[in-house]
Amino acid sequence: MDNIFDLKKRVAVITGASSGLGADAAKAYAQAGAKVAILARRKEKLDALAEELKAMGNDAIAVQCDVSNEESVSAAVDEIIRQYGKIDILLNNAGVATKGSVEELSADAWDRTMDVNVKGIYLMSKYVVPHMKENNYGKIVNISSVNAIIADKNPLLARHSYNASKAAVKGLTTGMAASYMQNNITVNAVGPALFESEMTSGTLFANDKFMGMYNALNPASRPAKKGELNGTLVYLSSDASSYVTGQYILVDGGMSII
Ligand SMILES: NC(=O)c1ccc[n+]([C@@H]2O[C@H](COP(=O)([O-])OP(=O)(O)OC[C@H]3O[C@@H](n4cnc5c(N)ncnc54)[C@H](OP(=O)(O)O)[C@@H]3O)[C@@H](O)[C@H]2O)c1
Repeated sequence: MDNIFDLKKRVAVITGASSGLGADAAKAYAQAGAKVAILARRKEKLDALAEELKAMGNDAIAVQCDVSNEESVSAAVDEIIRQYGKIDILLNNAGVATKGSVEELSADAWDRTMDVNVKGIYLMSKYVVPHMKENNYGKIVNISSVNAIIADKNPLLARHSYNASKAAVKGLTTGMAASYMQNNITVNAVGPALFESEMTSGTLFANDKFMGMYNALNPASRPAKKGELNGTLVYLSSDASSYVTGQYILVDGGMSII
């Protein structure tokens, strides 16, 4: 029997792959057999990861891209199509976690969060979906967050633009899913809770009080371990999820159910 989680012959595009969850996902997709196009702004980090993946026998290309900039996105998608000829999987992972309540946030900071976390997904999808439609096949996974539905009353942890942006990702996922299932394109969102990364290590992980509260609240009594998102991402990017679309799957140790 074929392995329904197999990504062999698939081309996967991963945004925000220069660090954290995106870099980790690129390795998981490559291990599942996909050719991976890794995108972010820091090209030197992407080049190092591409070399690492190639040394493991995988096919990888590093493409510099600012997901909030339409010209940059259009050029990146053209480059991937030029090199790989198609795009089967799009992992919209690039994101920023801007701190601040509505009173503290400048309008520019608000816009920047929305530009990367929401407009970035819209732009990537705008340029990738036509190529998926051409092949009547596509798997889009949008990284939201548990913070789309859970917040914190501690003023030091207020991230109102982040909450709003990650909830918008859920809505965008629902709309796209309804439109594109007829093209055999599934669109799902994933809501991780706490993983260690550049985004969280110097802030949340460095805050003993926060970590104590998080561990006390979370049924898992710990943050996620490296790699614990990848099973869900590979599942939603493979034929194993062919009849699953428009869903928001939390990878949160059960945090959202209590
Ligand atoms: N870590 C967690 O606990 C957690 C929990 C829930 C959700 N998330 C979400 O998971 C995703 C990945 O976050 P992470 O934790 O892995 O943090 P990270 O290590 O800071 O990674 C963020 C990635 O996004 C990229 N990025 C930022 N702005 C970009 C832009 N304008 N264009 C292209 N790429 C851009 C960064 O690359 P460059 O700077 O090189 O562009 C980097 O590769 C984010 O959407 C985040 O909101 C994380």
